[in-house]
Amino acid sequence: MTVIRGATTVATDCQEEISASVKEMLDEVFAQNALKKEEVRAFLFSLTTDIHSYHPAKAAREAGYDFAPLFAAIEPEINGGLKLCIRLMLFTELLDNRTVKHVYQKGAKVLRKDISEIYNIALDGPAGSGKSTIAKILARDYNILYLDTGAMYRACGLKALRLGVDPKDGVAVEKMLPTLDVKVEYKDGAQRTILDGEDVSLSIRENAVSMAASSISAHPAVRMKMVELQREIAKGISCVLDGRDIGSTVLPDAKFKFFITADSKVRAMRRFKELQARGENVDFDTLHAEIVARDKQDSEREFSPLVCAKDAIVIDTSDMDIEQVITAVKAAVQSKI
Ligand code: DC
Repeated sequence: MTVIRGATTVATDCQEEISASVKEMLDEVFAQNALKKEEVRAFLFSLTTDIHSYHPAKAAREAGYDFAPLFAAIEPEINGGLKLCIRLMLFTELLDNRTVKHVYQKGAKVLRKDISEIYNIALDGPAGSGKSTIAKILARDYNILYLDTGAMYRACGLKALRLGVDPKDGVAVEKMLPTLDVKVEYKDGAQRTILDGEDVSLSIRENAVSMAASSISAHPAVRMKMVELQREIAKGISCVLDGRDIGSTVLPDAKFKFFITADSKVRAMRRFKELQARGENVDFDTLHAEIVARDKQDSEREFSPLVCAKDAIVIDTSDMDIEQVITAVKAAVQSKI
């Protein structure tokens, strides 16, 4: 299920204006997203409490949008929120993987600043700090995209391992680059990492790939290729990205920046449990040593190292559970919105 948002306003609470605005918004949502009737499951409108004179669902039906259930509800009053505003949530089942475009007309951009403004959340930090768990929860709760940038470097590392290329060997890695095709797709809201046309989302999680990813990500040519892709994905859409250099290099203008960290033993224990649950047989001390080595390699590399951006909020999750971390991150987001 994919939800497309729309919002518009009317200057006065009158039938003609409501009908015209609803039609204009729906026409634009359908045109911008090249939507087909059979992809639409339901229309949900919400109105600010100052609209009484006409029902937007009726206006939609009259404009020909009668091929899926229509429903309308009253928007709660929001301090400083827009007046005379009609919002739309269009529930769709898209037949392909296209990126949706939300439509905001007639100044209806900031009815709910938390969900209608385009913004990026950068989560950086060392391996096992909890970034990806936090990122997934934020993406779900704010209904924004999640981009796991580590997965992209993991795909690069996996390719090198498969070809027998030493991920530390800059010359060999550069030779491999023209044939390296990493893509990110979204299926049911979850990121799938595609390497040379193959979905490698599972194999890149194997422990052997972690160190290869760390080594290969040190090469400027690899980073330039991946960073370009990351910026392209993040462009014009609200999203949360996790990685090592998001706040410092990939999106230095991100509105929200966090540096998530934790003691290396705590992080090693988290990975240990994760890998054990997946049936991988690992030794804690070896895992800890690997994490420390990866931290060192990620932070000491010359080009775009793991670094806490100057304006990032640092959260040490060693003694925090995930709910406490989410509460802290959300409080910081709300205070800045
Ligand atoms: O977050 P992760 O463990 O999946 O990342 C795998 C490796 O990729 C990590 O050791 C460093 C590298 N990486 C990076 O250099 N820059 C990023 N933005 C994300 C990951």
